[in-house]
Order: sequence, then structure tokens, then C-alpha cells
Amino acid sequence: MQSFQPPRRILMGPGPSDVSPRVLSALARPTVGHLDPAFQDLMEEIKAALARLFNAPDHACVPLPAPGTAGMEGALMNLLEPGDRAVIAVNGVFGGRMVDMAGRAGAEVVRVDAPWGEPVDVAAVEAALASGPAKVLAFVHAETSTGVRSDAAALCALARRHGALSIVDCVTSLG
Ligand SMILES: Cc1ncc(COP(=O)(O)O)c(C=O)c1O
Repeated sequence: MQSFQPPRRILMGPGPSDVSPRVLSALARPTVGHLDPAFQDLMEEIKAALARLFNAPDHACVPLPAPGTAGMEGALMNLLEPGDRAVIAVNGVFGGRMVDMAGRAGAEVVRVDAPWGEPVDVAAVEAALASGPAKVLAFVHAETSTGVRSDAAALCALARRHGALSIVDCVTSLG
């Protein structure tokens, strides 16, 4: 549409989040299909870059060409089966979204609320994990809805100690 000229805006998530000019110019390159060998080379390169970013082996990184919500959905729906116990910390919008998804997966959700504007309460999460075996601990690292960061190292260590897998939404914090 020639008639639509997007205005220049400063995009604000938890901070300025304008798209880099490098990314904008990449978007103007030719499209290849997902079965094209050139696409597979690209995937390998992206997986290696993600492995560096996540400090993880590259076979453990699965990029989903989708928005953040699909990442949440992919993690929760693949790990939770009906009846599994999931401890989910909620201190804003996106924690609440994970509670909804886990409920739809049929999990028994143990919701640990903290006031909006406060980080996830580590002691309350510990109490929830100690109250019965959970398959998953899920929380949002940086709750974009309030701009608050929680202590991911402490929470993941708790999950490990209690034999639960950690699902961490770090949409606006990882990089
Ligand atoms: C912390 C967090 N989780 C999940 C999402 C959802 O991501 P998307 O809007 O790409 O589905 C967002 C989006 O802002 C977010 O900030």
C-alpha cells in the first residue's frame, strides 16, 4: 500500500525497543521456503547464536518462528499433561496468561500471587513447591506489564532442588 507511510515512533516496552535498522534491512531481503537448503543453513546459524545467548548446547535450542505467546504455549503444552501439578508465579499480566494455558492443558495449577509491581515472592514459591511434587515451576523473569524483574537464579535453583522443570518467560529480559 503506497498510501501507508508508517510514522517514526519510539516504541516503549519496558524500555526503548525500536527495531534495529539492521533488522529492518534484513526484512527487505528475498524470501526462501522452509524446505530450501539455504533455509536450513540459516536455521543452523540461528541455533548456534541462540546457544551462545542461552549458554546452552545448541541441540537444546529450538527456535519457534512465532510470537512470545506461542513460545509459552509450546513450552506448557509440551511439558504438561492432565493432572500434572504446575506451580505458576503471577505478578502481572503474563504470569496470568501462563495460568490460563496450564489450566487448558489440564494441569493442577498452584498459583502463587505477588502484588503487581513487586517481584515474585521466592519464599512463597518455595512453600508451594514444598507442599507437593510439581512437574513445572513457571514464572516471568521481567514482567513487562509492570517493568519488574524477578530473581530467576533463585527461582530456578528452587525448582531444581524440588525436581521440577523451570519454564521462564524472558521475552523482554533475555538479551
Ligand atoms: C513478558 C512477556 N511475555 C509474553 C509476551 C507475549 O509476547 P507476544 O506479544 O509476542 O505474543 C510479552 C509481550 O509483550 C511479554 O512482554
